[in-house]
Amino acid sequence: MKIIMLGAPGAGKGTQAKMLAAKYDIPHISTGDIFRANIKNGTELGAKAKEYMDKGLLVPDELVVDLIMDRFKADDCKNGYILDGFPRTIPQAEALDKALTAVGESIDYAINVEVPDENIVNRMSGRRACVGCGATYHIKYSPTKVEGKCDTCNGDLIIRDDDKPETVLNRLNVYHEQTQPLIDYYSGKGVMREVDGTVDMQLVFDSIVAILGE
Ligand code: AP5
Repeated sequence: MKIIMLGAPGAGKGTQAKMLAAKYDIPHISTGDIFRANIKNGTELGAKAKEYMDKGLLVPDELVVDLIMDRFKADDCKNGYILDGFPRTIPQAEALDKALTAVGESIDYAINVEVPDENIVNRMSGRRACVGCGATYHIKYSPTKVEGKCDTCNGDLIIRDDDKPETVLNRLNVYHEQTQPLIDYYSGKGVMREVDGTVDMQLVFDSIVAILGE
């Protein structure tokens, strides 16, 4: 099964993608996580990506597409994957289609997690990420057992650099201009499905599972 998670920054794509990956036993591929790991490890790619990410801008398509095409070659992708944060522009979607068509495959579903802009800034200000394993929490909606410490690895929790309110507003603008057109793109292919992302995380998950099937 090949699934694309769509939605505004902070809509809950990553939260749902992790839960779906566990349920369907397919990898969760997040371009944002890949870039953050590269930044943490001090790679050249990480340094380039950080220049854009800190401003709330998209990393140039050519850096993203090669990276993701390479990731698809890994063994764990043979039964499918959940894409979170890719594609994010029409050229990225076209590159993905071209690569899949070349091997006789296609995307099964694009799931749009719908959350209005006014909820987003509030969500982002409460998000905390683990420096150790990258797990995501929310101080109100998904708190850790011990304040400031990851439930999984006991790592410290931080606020992501791009979660400052002014950067979040930029990311929302970029989303509306460059990523939202993908909703029409995938509607045209008959694979677009929408879920309400404003309700409890488990209810969002149940709606997606109802679409994908057991
Ligand atoms: P990326 O990491 O992909 O960020 P994003 O799309 O902006 O998405 P987020 O990770 O911010 O949010 P999310 O929807 O996953 O929400 P989450 O589940 O964490 O990308 C970062 C940057 O990398 C981009 O800005 C760009 O620069 C670059 N980049 C990445 N991919 C790229 C590409 N393909 N092309 C070019 N550049 C690229 O949830 C948010 C919070 O809400 C959490 O605290 C969570 O606990 C909480 N929450 C989740 N669901 C609920 C719920 N139902 N109710 C209440 N709270 C909830």
